[in-house]
Amino acid sequence: MKTIKSYINDNKDRFLNELIDLLKIPSISADSAYTNAVLETAAVIKTSLENAGCDHVEICETEGFPIVYGEKIIDKSLPTILVYGHYDVQPPDPLNLWNSPPFEPVIQKTDLHPEGAIFARGACDDKGQMYMHVKAMEYMTSQNELPCNVKFMIEGEEEVGSVNLAKFVAANREKLANDVILISDTGMIAKDVPSITTGLRGLSYVEVEVTGPNRDLHSGLYGGAVANPINVLTKMIASLHDENNHITIPGFYDNVENLSDAERAEMAKAPFSLENYKNALDIDAVYGEAGYTTNERNSIRPTLDVNGIWGGYTGEGAKTVIASQAFAKISMRLVPNQDWETITDLFKAHFESIAPKGVTVKVTPHHGGQGYVTPIDSIGYKAASKAYEATFGKTPIPQRSGGSIPIVSLFEKELKSKTILMGFGLDSDAIHSPNEHFGIWNYLKGIETIPHFYKYFTELKK
Ligand code: BES
Ligand code: MN
Ligand code: MN
Repeated sequence: MKTIKSYINDNKDRFLNELIDLLKIPSISADSAYTNAVLETAAVIKTSLENAGCDHVEICETEGFPIVYGEKIIDKSLPTILVYGHYDVQPPDPLNLWNSPPFEPVIQKTDLHPEGAIFARGACDDKGQMYMHVKAMEYMTSQNELPCNVKFMIEGEEEVGSVNLAKFVAANREKLANDVILISDTGMIAKDVPSITTGLRGLSYVEVEVTGPNRDLHSGLYGGAVANPINVLTKMIASLHDENNHITIPGFYDNVENLSDAERAEMAKAPFSLENYKNALDIDAVYGEAGYTTNERNSIRPTLDVNGIWGGYTGEGAKTVIASQAFAKISMRLVPNQDWETITDLFKAHFESIAPKGVTVKVTPHHGGQGYVTPIDSIGYKAASKAYEATFGKTPIPQRSGGSIPIVSLFEKELKSKTILMGFGLDSDAIHSPNEHFGIWNYLKGIETIPHFYKYFTELKK
């Protein structure tokens, strides 16, 4: 029987090569041109779960991309851990900003990753982090170290809102029954500052369309005499924040939980350097809601951001034109207690109400989801904390994240279990951006830490 450390040492090249092969498949769920690649990825995950020692693995079809489900039930009286992850990735655009092609993984050293990092779309979000669980499973089953039952549920639509997974979970409560859900799809503060994510923000994502005249017009002949949809749209968007960067939608803050001074003081203890933050992004100042720190702005406060805006002429040179239409995609990050459907309705009503005469406005909701907070006195949190202590030699810091995994609150509602977010990515890993990467050190540290969680969770649960 080998320890996890020596097992990793003996197998690390294979662990890396298997991940590299997985990263070569462009499983972009948002783009239908990649449907076959997404399906192929599901098949590869199925095989990898079988090889890792699952007794039963199946591809569960949905109306969209399939869910790969695997399990190993060793004793019904022992606890069951449900591992969730996703095998789909974000589109890699803009391609010209990548230093190497997004689906041709390369290993390169960086300042933060002197041991090397794998550069590829999905390296950190979430193929690399999901695959840590597959390799940890391989260790536990091959070395007779699996202390409890395990179920895997790896989906292919996380990056497009998990709509079909939500239906699957609601329809398969028995099959998915568990004592704790374990996810690695978030980050940690730094390699020497381990942290456990205790909160996720919710999300409401909408698309807006402003239509003016029935056709594009000469901007000299008509300019100044009719509403220009792009001018109007940008003015409407600008009005959504006031001078303190508060969001102006009536009712938007109604259910926002206000943290006590003590809780805010606790949060402020997490190591953070504003100088490093600004330097890493090449900005001379941060920007945000008055009265809150950077870490508060990006975790416990809700936001509204334009994610894309278009209309009119954007080709080479100049074309004098007033476009008939203008468009934008807008996301609102929400905090626990804000209901995403209510917020979507509030946005729609407000945005329509501020449209001036001379244009029509259409608001189309996309997907959304609720935020999440998890207590730090649960058995799951304690087991995770002990696991990090075992492999990092330090107690991890609880930290709320600004990102969203909307399915997590649905897990709690449908399966009645808590989720533990053991993320091993760094903020600088550039998830969703060009040159996404995942440190080899982080990848192997994740594989090393996970079996400790299984062991402590099973012990504490007894
Ligand atoms: N893994 C991320 C979410 C994340 C990253 C949370 C880092 C915390 C820290 C996930 O894949 C993601 O990108 N979620 C989307 C929402 C989804 C509905 C498209 C997001 O947060 O934008
Ligand atoms: Mn993810
Ligand atoms: Mn993502």
